[in-house]
Amino acid sequence: PEKVTVPSLRASKERGEKLVCLTAYDYPTARIIDEAGVEIVLVGDSLGNVVLGYENTIPVTLDEMVSATRAVRRGVTRALLVADMPYGSYHTGADDAVRAALRLIKEGGAEAVKLEGGRKRLQLIERLIAEEIPVMGHIGLTPQSVNQLGGFRLQGKTLEAARALIEDARALEAAGVFSIVLELVPREVARIITEAVKIPTIGIGAGPHCDIQVLVIHDLIGLSFTENRKPRFVRQYANMRQIMTEAISRFAEDVRSGSYPAEDESYAVSPETAAELEL
Ligand code: KIV
Ligand code: NA
Repeated sequence: PEKVTVPSLRASKERGEKLVCLTAYDYPTARIIDEAGVEIVLVGDSLGNVVLGYENTIPVTLDEMVSATRAVRRGVTRALLVADMPYGSYHTGADDAVRAALRLIKEGGAEAVKLEGGRKRLQLIERLIAEEIPVMGHIGLTPQSVNQLGGFRLQGKTLEAARALIEDARALEAAGVFSIVLELVPREVARIITEAVKIPTIGIGAGPHCDIQVLVIHDLIGLSFTENRKPRFVRQYANMRQIMTEAISRFAEDVRSGSYPAEDESYAVSPETAAELEL
């Protein structure tokens, strides 16, 4: 299959193809996702929650994002590789934002960056694009706004909020983003936006009308610690936590009983050396 590129995504939308996006934060997972034929691999700043154990994405640093992106880069050959701009990396001015994005691209190997926010990010997005950096937008629930929002709730529910989201999407498209993540918005709003723009929409908790669907890989495989508050949009396809717990318990049992390691799981000296050692 052909390499996925920024222009090929738009062509896929024109052909009405539904595409797949997943997050990855390390080499083996990235390789499995890419080899499974997923079109976009996103090094999300969800890294903070699912891998680093933070409460939310606020503390994630640019160094952490660059490091994860470098690992993922080595595992991805076909998919488009996108990296999140972490909180603080694009909030202090366009020059700082360009510098941060260039680190994700030059050191990390990302082919594009994603940043959160609608109309308030237009100038910034135009500047990044002017520096040859493809940008993915992200509106609806923007987790980097958690301290302002006071939690993770459905966005765009009222008429006014829905209209604001639609305007944000149109403005992002006009500024030149190559796709837009719609997070936790009503399916009707996602449908209107998807029909209103020529670039693909990437939905998470945004219903069936988006061009592309994205999930956090740890949610998909049952490796995230969200069981008490699993969002309704998560469909869990495996229980890796249970599989890992069983494997670890069996290993511990075998060590304690002395059945691990067996003879063929250890090494011997040569027969001559054994004789010399008087074994
Ligand atoms: O950080 C992330 O994983 C994301 C996706 C959920 C879109 O931004
Ligand atoms: Na993110």
